[in-house]
Amino acid sequence: MCGIIAVTGSDDTVEVLLDGLAMLEYRGYDSAGVALVAGGPVPSVWRARAANGTRSLEDLAKAVESAPPGARSGIGHTRWATHGRPTETNAHPHVDCTGRIALVHNGIIENHTELSAALEDAGHVLESETDTEVLAHLIEDELATDRTAGLVVAVRRALARVRGAFALAVVDTADPDLVVAARRVSPLVIGRLGEAVLLASDIPALLARTRDFFVLDDDQVAELRPGSIVVTTLDGAPVPLVARTVDWDLDAARKDGYEDFMSKEMHQQPAAVADTLRDRVLPDGRLALDEMRLSDDELRAVDKVFIVACGSSYHAGLAAKYAIEHWARLPVEIDIASEFRYRDPVLDAHTLVIGVSQSGETVDTLQALREARRWNAKVLVISNVVDSSMAREADAVLYTRAGPEIGVAATKTHLAQMTALVVLALYLAQLRGTLYPEETVQLLAAMGELPAKVAVALDRGGDVAAVARSVAASPSFIFIGRHVGYPVALEGALKLKELSYLRAEGFPAGELKHGPIALVEPGTVVIGIATRTRLWEKMMANVAEVRSRGATVVLVANDGDEETARQADAVLWVPPTGPLFAPIVDVVPLQQLAYTLARFHGLDVDRPRNLAKVVTVE
Ligand code: G6P
Repeated sequence: MCGIIAVTGSDDTVEVLLDGLAMLEYRGYDSAGVALVAGGPVPSVWRARAANGTRSLEDLAKAVESAPPGARSGIGHTRWATHGRPTETNAHPHVDCTGRIALVHNGIIENHTELSAALEDAGHVLESETDTEVLAHLIEDELATDRTAGLVVAVRRALARVRGAFALAVVDTADPDLVVAARRVSPLVIGRLGEAVLLASDIPALLARTRDFFVLDDDQVAELRPGSIVVTTLDGAPVPLVARTVDWDLDAARKDGYEDFMSKEMHQQPAAVADTLRDRVLPDGRLALDEMRLSDDELRAVDKVFIVACGSSYHAGLAAKYAIEHWARLPVEIDIASEFRYRDPVLDAHTLVIGVSQSGETVDTLQALREARRWNAKVLVISNVVDSSMAREADAVLYTRAGPEIGVAATKTHLAQMTALVVLALYLAQLRGTLYPEETVQLLAAMGELPAKVAVALDRGGDVAAVARSVAASPSFIFIGRHVGYPVALEGALKLKELSYLRAEGFPAGELKHGPIALVEPGTVVIGIATRTRLWEKMMANVAEVRSRGATVVLVANDGDEETARQADAVLWVPPTGPLFAPIVDVVPLQQLAYTLARFHGLDVDRPRNLAKVVTVE
């Protein structure tokens, strides 16, 4: 996601900032910027945007060469766009109207729409499309209202007006040695090197310079000056500083202490789901989508939906087919994107084509969507990358907010896609009036519990490892599921073959007896999705079919469901949730199973052989 770096009291302000930004590069970014305070009336601000594969940090470094010497403090940022496109204007730092202060921010200001309207009414001019810029103007407001208040007090008062998550660093030309930092949810760490005090959104940005850190906790503010760190709560109460020393190397630090990016990213899944849900439900219970260049009337006129996608995104789309058909009562066809455009699909202006792609660049999906537009169909894209090719060409976009995913096999982006798709399904249902309001309320409540349930499922990693050990010698695996368990079975099999290079196939359980059951012999490992969704009884009948042929059966089952457990040799437990939300939780132990088996075989889980994260060839 976005990265923050800041420094005061250093002889090499520019170098510290640029080095720190380079260390944050691995997180993914689309633009970058720095602001320096050297004693003049306004900070010097430079921003650069990465375009077509160029690295904006190089452009930024060139631009900053012209900086006047003697900067006393500075802040820097790598931005990974969420609110507002990845343009230079939207890049941080952002400044207030007077140019006195500059700030960088990670997180999401949830009430930014109402705040920017109020600020504009009061005469402020906001230049960017970001949620961040309101912070600069709120602080400006507080400084103007109480001229005796310094920056720390103004930041505290401004933050009392915002809802959401933030990590921010602010510099002030009226106090050139000062950097003020504050956090809620989004992390910040402080480091010290002689007189210099450094701040960053994560440890790797500082690791080349120091190993001694102070971690800022939620709702704390730090006042950083050369040789001095003062931390208080947002209410002004003092906070004692507790130093922490890390002995990680840079690679381990980037992985936040996890063994690899895949396990880090799996553990980020509750946040990916929560962030994807954030802001979507309006106070009156209606749902809001981003970048809707389609009117509600146009969406109401839709009489058929196609979903096109590849890989894990296809499985997310397949799960969504059940939700859209059931809740919104619209017929849904789903296609592997590489097949769609060559099969002469029947589309017209009343067709909604949904492209699902974490990268937004997969060429098969991009071309499928272009084909859809040729037939005047409406195109809606679910993507994790703001302004990706698909997002730019679509009529409407619903962004997942999983943050950059570095492991090649999709995990957190997959959960975020399924989350975005259930939001979309509910939105369509609302527009079409196919759900009673009280049903929608119940569904929204269940949706809100998903991040916690994903977290519970993840916590069972140890149990998954024991199951993995029990089946580790098997050369092949069969995954079965019914209804929404079917896409989960497909994704479980895909993860396993991608990561461990073992033979793994997913089937609709009801289809077993039409062929795949011929593969089952004593000892064959069959993994079934047996949570209590609609077809549980029928699923258990299919489980009995393989058991009676000697299969070793592993079932994904809901907590406490002993009846299901009795039919299994081993169980992967998950918390229960609403049937159409179940794939979001049920797939988690299968990701962990694939991960663990790959590790048993000594394989590189982040870079599986022959696979690529973004596939731009047909
Ligand atoms: C590649 C990745 C998969 C991904 C698929 C579709 O094969 O390795 O993890 O599911 O592409 O990518 P997309 O960016 O369109 O979701």
